[in-house]
Amino acid sequence: MRLSTWIVAFVVAYMFIAHGMAAEKPSDEPRLTVEQARTQAKLLHDTYIATLHAMHRRYFDDAARQNKQIAVPSRVMEEVFADIQLRWKMRARWLAVNAQAMSLGHEPQDDFEREAARLFVQGKESHEQVHDGVYRHAGSIALFSSCLKCHAPAPMNPDVARYAGLIISVPVKTP
Ligand code: HEC
Repeated sequence: MRLSTWIVAFVVAYMFIAHGMAAEKPSDEPRLTVEQARTQAKLLHDTYIATLHAMHRRYFDDAARQNKQIAVPSRVMEEVFADIQLRWKMRARWLAVNAQAMSLGHEPQDDFEREAARLFVQGKESHEQVHDGVYRHAGSIALFSSCLKCHAPAPMNPDVARYAGLIISVPVKTP
């Protein structure tokens, strides 16, 4: 066989093998069981609907529109947290990290929350724990410059990265 024929044969064989390998490669998409997908979809459904109702109640109803004081979004979200807690037994609460504590109730309340706050300041985005039949997920929330006029007003240093956090607690089976 001429060299060019060898090259063509090699390229065709390579494409064939590469195509086969690509077909077998697991996709990057997360693969959920139907049961997990159903649970996630129902949770998202309830969360979106609870958010929709809270937004209408606090920002859009006639009474809300006549009220000159605009509700603080994180407070309104706490109404969503309460709705979801009722239906799903999952709890959520805000965490004050290294900005001004906007509400004393958001200060870290135990070792897990203190550790989460400490890690967020170092740039870690999440922290978790399983304790006494409860899984807890702490996630950091970046406070942008538009947030800082309230969350880190002068004389706080505007150049320091500021965070808040969200703790979600979910009951789990203990072994
Ligand atoms: C006009 C002032 C103002 C601005 C601007 C503002 N917030 Fe807040 N935020 C508040 C107040 C007041 C609270 C406390 C509400 C309460 O009493 O529970 C709060 C609470 C929060 C909390 C709960 C945790 C905590 O620190 O107490 C989060 C999270 C939060 N805000 C995120 C944001 C983000 C993100 C932005 C910018 C996109 C932002 N806020 C901008 C006034 C503000």
